[in-house]
Amino acid sequence: MERGVLQKRKRFNTAGLCIPKYHYMADVRDKVNRIIEEYVDQDEYFTISRARQYGKTTILYLLQEELKDRCVVLSISFEGKEEYFTSLQNFAEGLNISFYKTLRKTHPRLAEIFREEICRTLAMETLGDRITALCGQAGKPVILMIDKVDKAADNQVFLTFLGMLRERYLRRKVGGDATFDCVILAGVHDIKNLKMKIRPEEGQNYNSPWNISADFDVDMGLSVTEIESMLREYEEYTHAGCAQR
Ligand SMILES: Nc1ncnc2c1ncn2[C@@H]1O[C@H](COP(=O)(O)OP(=O)(O)O)[C@@H](O)[C@H]1O
Ligand SMILES: [Mg+2]
Repeated sequence: MERGVLQKRKRFNTAGLCIPKYHYMADVRDKVNRIIEEYVDQDEYFTISRARQYGKTTILYLLQEELKDRCVVLSISFEGKEEYFTSLQNFAEGLNISFYKTLRKTHPRLAEIFREEICRTLAMETLGDRITALCGQAGKPVILMIDKVDKAADNQVFLTFLGMLRERYLRRKVGGDATFDCVILAGVHDIKNLKMKIRPEEGQNYNSPWNISADFDVDMGLSVTEIESMLREYEEYTHAGCAQR
C-alpha cells in the first residue's frame, strides 16, 4: 500500500463509546432519529437511564453528530468531576469551565460568555445569567447533554442545579429568560427519584426537581436487524480486504 494512505482497520469495540469511523457498529440511526423527532424537536427535558453498557454514551455522541449543524450542543460528562460537587460555588465554576471548553472549538464567539471565572457569591445565579446570554445569542436551539449523571446522584448541589433548570424550563414559554431548548441526562438511575432517595419522608416524587422530565421510552436494546447491520458491515469490510490482497 502507498505511503500515507494507510487506513486504520475498523474493529469491534467493547470498551465504551463506539465511533462509526473506527468501530463496527449496529446501525442505530432509527433510534437516533426517533429521539430527535419525539424528544429533541419537542423541546423536552429527559433522562436516558439504563444499565451500564446499554449504549447511552454512544447514542449521545451520535445525537450530537446529527444535531451539531442545526443546534448548539453542549456535551459534557460528570466522569472524574467529583470536585464539582463540593460546593455550589465549585459546581457553578465547574460547569462554567466545562461549557467554555465544549464551546471553544465549535462556537468560539459564544464560548466567550463563559471565559471569565465566576468567582463570587451567587455563583449559580451568575451561571444562570450566562446560560440566558448563551441561549439568547445562539440563534439556534441550544441543547445540554450531561453523561454520567450518577456521579452527581444524592448530591444537594446537583439538585439545586436541576431546580434551576426546572424553574427556567417552566418559565421559558411565558416570558422567562432564554434557556436550554432541550436537556438530556444519561445515567444508570432515574433522576426523577433523586429527591425521594434523599428524603424518603417526603414521599414518592414529591417536589422532585426533575419532575418536568418526559418519560423516555425508546427501547435502547439492539434489535436483530441492528445487529445484522453490524455483521454485514464486518463481512463487507473483510471481503473488500481479501479482494484487495
Ligand atoms: N451502536 C452500537 N453498535 C455496536 N455495539 C454497541 C453500540 N452501542 C453500544 N455498543 C456496545 O456497548 C458498549 C458500551 O457502549 P456505551 O455507549 O459506552 O454504553 P453505556 O454508556 O450505556 O455504558 C460498547 O463498547 C459496545 O461494545
Ligand atoms: Mg456511558
